[in-house]
Amino acid sequence: MRRLISIIFVFTSFHVLPALSFTSFVFGDSLVDAGNNDYLFTLSKADSPPYGIDFKPSGGQPTGRFTNGRTIPDIIGQVLGAVSFPPPYLAPSSQADAIHRGINYASGASGILDETGALFIGRVPLREQVNYFEQSRHYLNVMGENRSKEFLKKAIFSLTSGSNDILNYFQPSIPFLGGGKVSPSTFQDYMVFNLTVQLKRLHEMGARKFVVVGIGPLGCIPFVRALNLLPSGKCSVGVNELIQGYNKKLNATLDQLNQELGPESMFVYANSYDIFWKIVRNYRQYGFENANDPCCGGYFPPFVCFKGSNASTTSVLCDDRSKYVFWDAYHPTEAANIIISKMLLDGDESVSFPINVRELYNKN
Ligand SMILES: *[C@@H]1O[C@H](CO)[C@@H](O)[C@H](O)[C@H]1NC(C)=O
Ligand SMILES: *[C@@H]1O[C@H](CO)[C@@H](O)[C@H](O)[C@H]1NC(C)=O
Ligand SMILES: *[C@@H]1O[C@H](CO)[C@@H](O)[C@H](O)[C@H]1NC(C)=O
Ligand SMILES: *[C@@H]1O[C@H](CO)[C@@H](O)[C@H](O)[C@H]1NC(C)=O
Repeated sequence: MRRLISIIFVFTSFHVLPALSFTSFVFGDSLVDAGNNDYLFTLSKADSPPYGIDFKPSGGQPTGRFTNGRTIPDIIGQVLGAVSFPPPYLAPSSQADAIHRGINYASGASGILDETGALFIGRVPLREQVNYFEQSRHYLNVMGENRSKEFLKKAIFSLTSGSNDILNYFQPSIPFLGGGKVSPSTFQDYMVFNLTVQLKRLHEMGARKFVVVGIGPLGCIPFVRALNLLPSGKCSVGVNELIQGYNKKLNATLDQLNQELGPESMFVYANSYDIFWKIVRNYRQYGFENANDPCCGGYFPPFVCFKGSNASTTSVLCDDRSKYVFWDAYHPTEAANIIISKMLLDGDESVSFPINVRELYNKN
């Protein structure tokens, strides 16, 4: 059924010149997957209702996004005047046409490290996502090398990865890097190192404007809180500390990249940790009524958000999705994504360093 839905959601008709509008290339995990996992054999899929219930371009049908509506890159793109959402790379025929509007390579369950997400079987690790971009890069050459360089110079490259690496690190059931034998500090270094390798590859292929998203406070998501039997309002300190250490190293590394490769290139650190922490802590101030429970799927394993053939097989759905911070046990609602996007677009140095996403877009 989902095949009937056009995968390219065009906001306006087609007379806007592609090179003049906002273009982005999106890399990462389920926070930003726009449907790639629909084309994989995987346990990590968002291809059934009620996923997408508030996604207007599809009429509320699932699109493979792991939330009820738009993701953060969707929202930021729209605000900055994108002609359409970048289509998923793995969708048939996304390549030739979509390269002008950008492409989404993100894949649910994937991480910075190749091993991450093995439990879910199919997923595209970050390194492979960049390999896919390399393929797409060849299509650009129809414009000629000079024009494609100019085109890429203006495009936004966003990377939202690392959450699944952290979650896997804390699940000893998964044989992973010797399962806990690696110290937290070594693990953080390993992640930053491997992410940097991919950033440099993208830079070599012509990317100049980067938004690198830090990891949010996963210790506060319903999945982690339930596994640790944490009561309402409490977060896993251990998980959050590992993340904060990683974020700090990532921020420092990006600062260094800016010194090495700037000012022609700009690496923006998106401080999603502090943004999300603020929202969870002061949720009422942001218009939410619940920052503990997922809107869909409940609070107990296996945490699935699913619409079955009858009421007994269907997950409970909250009454007002705009009042929940969490859509399912892992992912924010569109309502939360809208607030986060606004902060990344127009926030100060404490949320987006050294400049915000709007400034990055406007930068020459
Ligand atoms: C990560 O980096 C290590 C070297 O530190 C390398 O052996 C490994 O293949 C890299 N993994 C990925 C996924 O890039
Ligand atoms: C591409 O740019 C280079 C350097 O700016 C210039 O010398 C060359 O003529 C350009 N090529 C084309 C095909 O425009
Ligand atoms: C990121 O690094 C810069 C430069 O060192 C620093 O000024 C800034 O406070 C850091 N941001 C965070 C959130 O750690
Ligand atoms: C609901 O669906 C399940 C699985 O398809 C089935 O086993 C069950 O009998 C159904 N219950 C009712 C009340 O129809």
